[in-house]
Amino acid sequence: MSTKTPRQFFKPLAIGAPQPLRELPVKLERMIHFVPGHNEKVRSKTPEMAAKVDVILANLEDAIPADAKIQARAGAIEMASMVDWKKLGTGLWTRVNPLNSPWFLDDVTEIVTKAGNVYDVIMLPKVEGPWDIHYADQLVAQLEAKAGITRPILFHAILETGQGVALVEEICAASPRMQGISLGPADLAANRAMKTTRVGGGHPMYKVIEDPVEGRERLSAQQDPWHYTLGKMVDACVTSGIKPFYGPFGDIADLAACEQQFKNAYLMGCAGAWSLHPGQIDIAKRVFSPEAAEVKFSLRILEAMPDGTGVAMIDGKMQDDATWKQAKVIVDLAKQVAAKDPEMAKAYGL
Ligand code: GLV
Ligand code: MG
Repeated sequence: MSTKTPRQFFKPLAIGAPQPLRELPVKLERMIHFVPGHNEKVRSKTPEMAAKVDVILANLEDAIPADAKIQARAGAIEMASMVDWKKLGTGLWTRVNPLNSPWFLDDVTEIVTKAGNVYDVIMLPKVEGPWDIHYADQLVAQLEAKAGITRPILFHAILETGQGVALVEEICAASPRMQGISLGPADLAANRAMKTTRVGGGHPMYKVIEDPVEGRERLSAQQDPWHYTLGKMVDACVTSGIKPFYGPFGDIADLAACEQQFKNAYLMGCAGAWSLHPGQIDIAKRVFSPEAAEVKFSLRILEAMPDGTGVAMIDGKMQDDATWKQAKVIVDLAKQVAAKDPEMAKAYGL
């Protein structure tokens, strides 16, 4: 047998570490807002930003210069005490450096032992396979035991190597700590030798073109080069009961293209995306919250079929057990949004 048996999975990996969770906490995570831990000015806005977003992430990895890594780590620890995170209900995550870097061990050791009761999730970059998760899982359990942490810190892996994509199902299933996966289009493009310098989105070179037509130019349309990876990632996450996310959109000035990328991810099943700039927060909030008209229509479906079985016609559209489940996905998400945002609750009629 090469996998753990179900009961083994839910034993703490170190004596004194907290019991692994059987269910993920139900949380709205529409945007994971990146804060460079070493940047004093940006870090000082943490309380203000924490009130606006679902998740704040202290970034220690890429985009943090090598000579600021230790400062970024100290900044991340400081951020844990800058806000009453539990009271506010905003998630606090950190992205640590990769397992093969000189910083990983100290990143994880310091975060868990100095702020482990506040940090909800550790984002692990460049995960190649389940062995990376197993190593981090054991290490974090030892540190949790040492620091007396009372509830387990969860893991979020970034899918940013070809091998990681090939093994995404095993990564998702590697530990009960797994909370979700994000698509990392920049590192993934580099690792796959995709010939692009963009961070997410479409590319004018990747399109379909119609057959030749007399008297006019042939029409063509860009396609989504991330569609395959996103679909594979969503199914792997669903299989393990964890959450899929789209990652970064690098062209900060192109809000329309960012919105389109987020919409594609939302429609395909993703729970949220990263915001790298305050301008992307509202886009994520709008896109990853269901539209009011869709919520109202879904509520009518649930009302028409109170026990979720049978058939009903609403506005000429056939409804049955399956559409009832589709409607429930929308309404469940709308309820989470409504609980956080009274204006949206009004718009939804909830
Ligand atoms: C994110 O980390 C990416 O590489 O796209
Ligand atoms: Mg990356």
